[in-house]
Amino acid sequence: MESFLCTIAICLVAVRAIPLEEFYPYNLSVNQQLIANDDASSRAITLDPPITFYGRSYNSCKIHNNGLVTFNTPPQHFIEAPFPVENYTFIAPFYGDVDTRMSGTVWFTDPVINESSVLDKVENDIHDTFRDHAYFKPAYVIIATWDQVGYFKERSDKLNTFQCIITSDGCASFVIFLYNEIQWTTNESNSMSKHAKIGFNDGTLFMSRQVPCSMTMNLKEISRTSNVGIAGKWIFRVDTTNFSTCHNDYAMACESDPFCSCSTPDPQQKCICTDLKEDIPQCSYVPVTTPTTTPTTTPTTTPTTPTTDVN
Ligand SMILES: *[C@@H]1O[C@H](CO)[C@@H](O)[C@H](O)[C@H]1NC(C)=O
Ligand SMILES: *[C@@H]1O[C@H](CO)[C@@H](O)[C@H](O)[C@H]1NC(C)=O
Ligand SMILES: *[C@@H]1O[C@H](CO)[C@@H](O)[C@H](O)[C@H]1NC(C)=O
Ligand SMILES: *[C@@H]1O[C@H](CO)[C@@H](O)[C@H](O)[C@H]1NC(C)=O
Ligand SMILES: *[C@@H]1O[C@H](CO)[C@@H](O)[C@H](O)[C@H]1NC(C)=O
Repeated sequence: MESFLCTIAICLVAVRAIPLEEFYPYNLSVNQQLIANDDASSRAITLDPPITFYGRSYNSCKIHNNGLVTFNTPPQHFIEAPFPVENYTFIAPFYGDVDTRMSGTVWFTDPVINESSVLDKVENDIHDTFRDHAYFKPAYVIIATWDQVGYFKERSDKLNTFQCIITSDGCASFVIFLYNEIQWTTNESNSMSKHAKIGFNDGTLFMSRQVPCSMTMNLKEISRTSNVGIAGKWIFRVDTTNFSTCHNDYAMACESDPFCSCSTPDPQQKCICTDLKEDIPQCSYVPVTTPTTTPTTTPTTTPTTPTTDVN
């Protein structure tokens, strides 16, 4: 099942990753870097206005070396277990055992509030993706960049380069993941070590999401896949857990979110978005009890079938 879903995701878009020129700038004067380390994180970065992440409000975040942006105490070491990870609240552009002692730099900013190139870029990204947010104006943008980072322990033969953008207008919140090159997914090339995870974890056992291929070696393909049709680019709305309907706004979220599925007022059914090609995304209702049958019962043109893991 896992590999089948991965195959679907890989077919989504042409072979290409996000070139560094299309990353958000990480050489701004506001940029800072983590010292070379294994499991460290940044100081707290103040968020004003606070950011809403799955229904709860946070007024600071930290950038963690292991490919996380955390809203409470960061995990001390890389946690191999799958999501949900209880008690830790974080965004995971690439949660793996990053080690920058031999190679790579983790860059981060205080909230960018007055660089028009950055604010315009994020505004365009959100407007292009979520038609119901055509008037979104960012209050700030956080830019965190993992630039050619190695892996545990002090390894630099394979390097990953990716970026996490977080923006909010004080109400809606969005996250953009950009992948340039992902060469490693685990600290050992050929072992029982667990592969990295990409997604969101709110610290409860009820809300976490992972992109297809998380915890498999196929996660390397993240730089060639997408939920917005641009290889290596993934965009998510993260402020709400109100997935009670597929109507309007939520359908838009579905459109850009291949693992989206919504619970419905009827606990026996969930709603999945099945057609990205239509102007108005189509939602289908499927029985909760047989989610694994959806790939064969939905149209073959449907790239949205990896809907396995919204909790
Ligand atoms: C940052 O990088 C961009 C693109 O490489 C370059 O055009 C710009 O001059 C750089 N800015 C600074 C302050 O170094
Ligand atoms: C999470 O926190 C609660 C309350 O402090 C505690 O009871 C529980 O054991 C913690 N869970 C884990 C996995 O550490
Ligand atoms: C942007 O804001 C920072 C921090 O408040 C300030 O240091 C910088 O001069 C401002 N830049 C511009 C172009 O206004
Ligand atoms: C790989 O990481 C796991 C846990 O993160 C650890 O138990 C294991 O010892 C590591 N292996 C090597 C060779 O570093
Ligand atoms: C969830 O969204 C629906 C449709 O937009 C709305 O009617 C409902 O009040 C929302 N529920 C909550 C708890 O916000």
